[in-house]
Amino acid sequence: MHVLITGGAGFIGSHLAERHLANGDQVYIVDNLSTGSLSNIDAFRGHPAFRFDEADILHWSGMDKAVAWADRIYHMAAVVGVKKVLEDPVAVMATNMTGTERILRAIHHGGWNPQVVIASTSEVYGFNAKSSFAETDDIVLPSAGRLRWAYAVTKLADEFLAFSYARKYGLHIVVVRLFNTIGPNQVGHYGMVVPSFVKQAVCNAPLTVYGEGDQTRSFCDVRDTVVALDRLAGCPEAWGEVVNVGNDQEISIRDLAELIVQRTHSQSPLHFMSYRDAYGEEFEDVTHRRPELNKLRALTGFAPEWSLRDTLDDLIKRECTKNLRVA
Ligand SMILES: NC(=O)c1ccc[n+]([C@@H]2O[C@H](COP(=O)([O-])OP(=O)(O)OC[C@H]3O[C@@H](n4cnc5c(N)ncnc54)[C@H](O)[C@@H]3O)[C@@H](O)[C@H]2O)c1
Repeated sequence: MHVLITGGAGFIGSHLAERHLANGDQVYIVDNLSTGSLSNIDAFRGHPAFRFDEADILHWSGMDKAVAWADRIYHMAAVVGVKKVLEDPVAVMATNMTGTERILRAIHHGGWNPQVVIASTSEVYGFNAKSSFAETDDIVLPSAGRLRWAYAVTKLADEFLAFSYARKYGLHIVVVRLFNTIGPNQVGHYGMVVPSFVKQAVCNAPLTVYGEGDQTRSFCDVRDTVVALDRLAGCPEAWGEVVNVGNDQEISIRDLAELIVQRTHSQSPLHFMSYRDAYGEEFEDVTHRRPELNKLRALTGFAPEWSLRDTLDDLIKRECTKNLRVA
């Protein structure tokens, strides 16, 4: 199979590339390396079935040819991370919406019909006060002007673009609402909590917890996530659908910080910081974000293999090894 991955040098994209190369597929990645990195794809760069273009999906001249070549496309390229979204909302709007439209238009204009996975996010559920979210639940977003929600709005627009192309032109597209995903290759610079905590704990530095730490999240190991995405892409019943992807085990951010300190045998204290100090006035957080996974299970039989504890132990081991190499 020919697999095109936009944003393939990023966290999730690089794991998709690894999975498909291991399956004997040909993999073509495009990435502008804005948050992705060459180190995520170093291991594949000499591989005969691997190709990488450093380009921006908004201007990439190779898009039509790559889309024609592909049997499957994972569209992962996006501006992500709370910090980036607040710093540059214009880039968020352009990349996340125009980039997606460009890919879908190229597929349709070429007359192609690859399997397509469009990455959306649990953020689209917005302020819905439920403690867990099913795909049929309402989307509740605050009214105009709160730029913190720019990311959710662009991803919701992507969902509607995908449904429009799927319904009008019969394209084989599945939209995945990804919940918090963690694992190797994820970096903390852009506001991702687990890599930040692990790094802080390994160095015995204070772990910065925003608010009181009562907010809960559900973390899915990326090595489970890519199994779900692979199965959904190839599942005709999933085409034209939106599907939650994640793990439904929930933990508060304070308990997560304490667990990481405990697993690291670290001396790190917890340092509580208000959202206002961390992100300025613009920021509003969501109290709970747990996926309901009935649809994913029914379509794919998916069951995560990685427990949170196993993923954390793996990440802690990797961080310690990295520090030893530097020292
Ligand atoms: N990691 C999560 O927990 C999570 C949760 C919800 C949704 N998602 C979605 O999953 C996808 C992958 O996220 P990730 O966590 O791997 O983030 P990531 O930042 O590691 O990956 C995104 C990749 O896209 C690339 N990119 C950004 N703009 C680009 C452009 N204009 N042209 C080409 N490449 C560009 C970046 O360099 C990066 O490699 C994103 O669409 C994101 O919105 C991720």
